[in-house]
Order: sequence, then structure tokens, then C-alpha cells
Amino acid sequence: MKEKVVLITGCSRGLGKSLAEKLSSGGFIVYAGVKGEEDVKTLQNIWKDSFKDIHSINIDITNDDDCKKTVQKIISKEKRIDVLINNAGIALVGPSESFSVKDYQSILNINAVGAFRLIKEVVPHMRSQESGRIINITSLNGSISLPNFGLYSSSKFALEGLSLALYHELPKGVFVTNIAPGAIESDSGESKKLPHVPAREKFLILKLLMPMVSKDKIARTIIDVINDRKPPARILLGNDSYITSFLYRFLPRRVWELLLGFIYHR
Ligand SMILES: NC(=O)c1ccc[n+]([C@@H]2O[C@H](COP(=O)([O-])OP(=O)(O)OC[C@H]3O[C@@H](n4cnc5c(N)ncnc54)[C@H](OP(=O)(O)O)[C@@H]3O)[C@@H](O)[C@H]2O)c1
Repeated sequence: MKEKVVLITGCSRGLGKSLAEKLSSGGFIVYAGVKGEEDVKTLQNIWKDSFKDIHSINIDITNDDDCKKTVQKIISKEKRIDVLINNAGIALVGPSESFSVKDYQSILNINAVGAFRLIKEVVPHMRSQESGRIINITSLNGSISLPNFGLYSSSKFALEGLSLALYHELPKGVFVTNIAPGAIESDSGESKKLPHVPAREKFLILKLLMPMVSKDKIARTIIDVINDRKPPARILLGNDSYITSFLYRFLPRRVWELLLGFIYHR
């Protein structure tokens, strides 16, 4: 069979850039969504020698027209689209009341509605192909809300909620999978700047038990999902995701809140 055609959003840096490179090395034809013509050119220059099968494509996922045109361009060139990876996202981290209504609308528009815009564009093509995979990069915060992540969490809860219903609505051969990582290892090895000291920095035991998840592991999981005949609706990734989800599920509610109070010194 011909190489699979993949569209990934948010490829200018971070996880998206790494996924574009790893999937291209794995034999996929990659359309790497990048926001703004200038970044499209920069990335295409970076990729032109080593990653000939990555095509950078200009897309702002808050723009209906961009989403429509991007999918149309891929279909007119490749005649198919096999995989959509909704990776683009923003994180607003801090006390919820410190953000404006506009901030809240913006994070929902990017993290949840942005993914929905593209899902709506690709599903008709996947339906006629009778195959397709939609992979959303959500988060541990998409099922557990932690202090300072209120806005981010509600955007990821929204995407999770949408996709868990969609899983059972999609046509034959088409599947949606939410990949929910905990903290992802950055290229520099440094943690993202947060308004609080992360729990793993406060307690050495947590740092040892919960190493950050690598981009490589996420890429391997995505390739497994693409190759799986019936992939699951949700996959947690990283020890912080597993341990926190286990505690959240099995601790009595009161004990869970006490634990959070202890960690965040409330
Ligand atoms: N980092 C973590 O620890 C972590 C943990 C769990 C889940 N996640 C999720 O994993 C995904 C990638 O995270 P990351 O850390 O790699 O993020 P990142 O480094 O901040 O990169 C985000 C990407 O999304 C793009 N983007 C933002 N708004 C966009 C828009 N309106 N239209 C198109 N693209 C847009 C950015 O483009 P510009 O450069 O042009 O802004 C950038 O390429 C996100 O969905 C995030 O929520 C991250």
C-alpha cells in the first residue's frame, strides 16, 4: 500500500515539529501545519534536505477558511487523507480569575474548536475512503483539573468530551483516539515556566517516580494507533498520567482534595 498521508497541526516547534520529523522518517507523507507564511518558509528550509516528505502548510486553526483550504489542498494533491493529528494548542497557566473572558474564549477556540474545525473537514473524506484516524493530543489535564490549570483543563476536557462521543459516531473504518500525556520532556530538558513549583520539583520521590514522557514515546504510540485496526478511544501516557489518574479514581474525594491541598499548600 502507498504511504499514508498525515496532517499534523502546530508543527513550528515542540511536539508537533518532532512528530512531523519522526513520522516522515517512519515513511509517512507529512503535511505539517504551521501558522504564518514566514514560519512556513523557515520550516520548509529546515526540512528540505533531510525530510523531503514533509510539506509545511500555512494554517491557523482558528480560521474556518484555512482549515477548509488546507484539507482541500491535501486532497487535490494526494487524493486522500489518512490521519489527522490535532496537536496545535496553547497553555494558559495561572489562577483562573487572573485571565480575561477573551483569554478563555481564545483557549477554547484553539484547543477545542480548532480541532473540531479540522475534524469536520476530514471526516467526509475518511468516510468515502472507509478508513481514517483522528488523533487528538489532549492531556492528563483533560480528565483531571489541577490548580492553575483551570482554563487549560476546561479546553482539554471539551476536546475529550467531544471525541469520546465521536468515537461511537464515526463511520466504518474511521477512529478517533485521544492521547493524554502528562508533562512532556522539552528539547532543552528544562521544565516550562509555571506560576507554582511543580509537585515533581517539590518532592524528590515524585521526580523519580514520574519522569516526563518523551516525544519519541508519543510518536511510537501514534504509529501504533495508526496501525491498529481498532484503536482505543483514549490512551494515557507517562507515569504522572498513570499515577495521578489512579489516585484520582480510587482515593475518596475528600482524601484527594486534602492531597491537593497538601501539595499546593492551600
Ligand atoms: N508540553 C507539555 O508538557 C504537554 C503536556 C500534555 C499535553 N500537551 C499538548 O501537546 C500539544 C503540543 O504541546 P507543545 O508543548 O509542543 O506546545 P508548544 O511548544 O507551545 O507548540 C504549540 C504549537 O501549536 C501552534 N499553535 C498555537 N495556536 C495555533 C493556531 N491558532 N493555529 C495553528 N497552530 C497554532 C504553535 O504555533 P505558533 O508557534 O505559531 O504559536 C506551535 O506550533 C498541545 O496540544 C499541548 O496542549 C503538552
